[in-house]
Amino acid sequence: MPGDKSISHRLAILAALAEGASEIRNYSPAADCTSTLECLKRLGVGIDAQPAPQIAGTGMDGGRAPRNVRIRGAGLSGWRKPRRTLDAGNSGTTLRLLAGALAGQSFVSKLTGDASLRSRPMRRVIDPLTQMGARIRSRESGFAPLEITGAPLHPIEYTLPVASAQVKSAVLLAGLFATCTTAVIEPVRTRDHTEIALAEFGAPIFRNGQRIEITGGVRLQGREITVPGDLSSAVFFLVAASILPGSKLMLFGVGLNPTRSAVLDFLVQMGAAIRVARLEQHSGELVGDLDVTATSSTSLRGGKIGGADVVRMIDELPMLAAMGPYTEEGIEIRDAHELRVKESDRIAVLAENLRRMGARVEEFDDGLRVAGRAETRSEGLRGAEVDPRGDHRLAMALAIAALGARGETRIRGAECVGVSYPGFFEDVNSVAQR
Ligand code: S3P
Repeated sequence: MPGDKSISHRLAILAALAEGASEIRNYSPAADCTSTLECLKRLGVGIDAQPAPQIAGTGMDGGRAPRNVRIRGAGLSGWRKPRRTLDAGNSGTTLRLLAGALAGQSFVSKLTGDASLRSRPMRRVIDPLTQMGARIRSRESGFAPLEITGAPLHPIEYTLPVASAQVKSAVLLAGLFATCTTAVIEPVRTRDHTEIALAEFGAPIFRNGQRIEITGGVRLQGREITVPGDLSSAVFFLVAASILPGSKLMLFGVGLNPTRSAVLDFLVQMGAAIRVARLEQHSGELVGDLDVTATSSTSLRGGKIGGADVVRMIDELPMLAAMGPYTEEGIEIRDAHELRVKESDRIAVLAENLRRMGARVEEFDDGLRVAGRAETRSEGLRGAEVDPRGDHRLAMALAIAALGARGETRIRGAECVGVSYPGFFEDVNSVAQR
């Protein structure tokens, strides 16, 4: 699997803040992760990266070759004032994490993104970073573009109002620049890649239950590190192999960090035949091979996702929802307001497109319910013309749902998969043809 998107962003930013060279192997081919590299270059960081992979559908490599990136760390105070606005593209992680690292710099910088990113909430990072001493101006007090005036930061103790790994990470990165110890308290545990990567680069970071502490002013050391495969991308293949009769697939080198792997438990509880064939730890992250075999589709039960599980499976929810018609009881997702402020309003766009494919969908403020076979007594979905509105995960979820549907599905703007997985369609074809 291509390198994990979340981990790649973090390693690039930390390598850029470290002293000495870092080598990041299997860096994610995602356009989002290229946005992070481009922003870091504009901040004066020396980066040698293999060329960004071509977007799917162009007949090029599609990002399947592992991508290695060398970064010459500039140190905590070595970034230079960028001459132009930093463009995070479609990437919320790029914008929010960089905001944290820019809050402690001695210059003014501007961050923006595409139309989708400019409509996503930024108050959640503006508030804590302002409390730490940065000055941040934003459009309509809460949206990008952001203008960040860095300052000497002071530590805060911050309880996250929304369970967000991006917000947690922004505060922890700012904490590198603060005097003494900054604490973040997370009511629900979110992905901990930032904490793991900070420790790998030598930052003093400690977790005590829900509380994470970081002490500022300590130099980070560059290093060599390999990015595990992206589990959120692997899930499309796990679901495809589970719903398509006769499938058998092995996925190698997939990141299985326990703060990300709840989706595996959910699939297995539903009756999916997934086995972890090897489990190792590399640079603080668990990595394994996954073996998946199709079960008879009548044995996939379906189920309900809510509460803390929403945070643990946040990026996999579109695929799980689109799997609903292939299960007995269907899939219900609640407590997932956050899905409305992702790359698109994922609840509304999923509901609309799954209905076009013949699914029975009930939409709620905080989620949706996609009926299963027991209720619809149908043969599943039918092909249709769908529009994921430029949202990469919706394009891939609809593509996998379409594989099991009767007739042909056309996905408008399908090249948006390149935001996280440029080689998606090539990889689907390569396993589908065997
Ligand atoms: C991410 C955290 C999640 C996730 C996003 C990546 C990260 O967002 O949905 O795709 O890399 O930290 P939130 O922090 O907004 O929940």
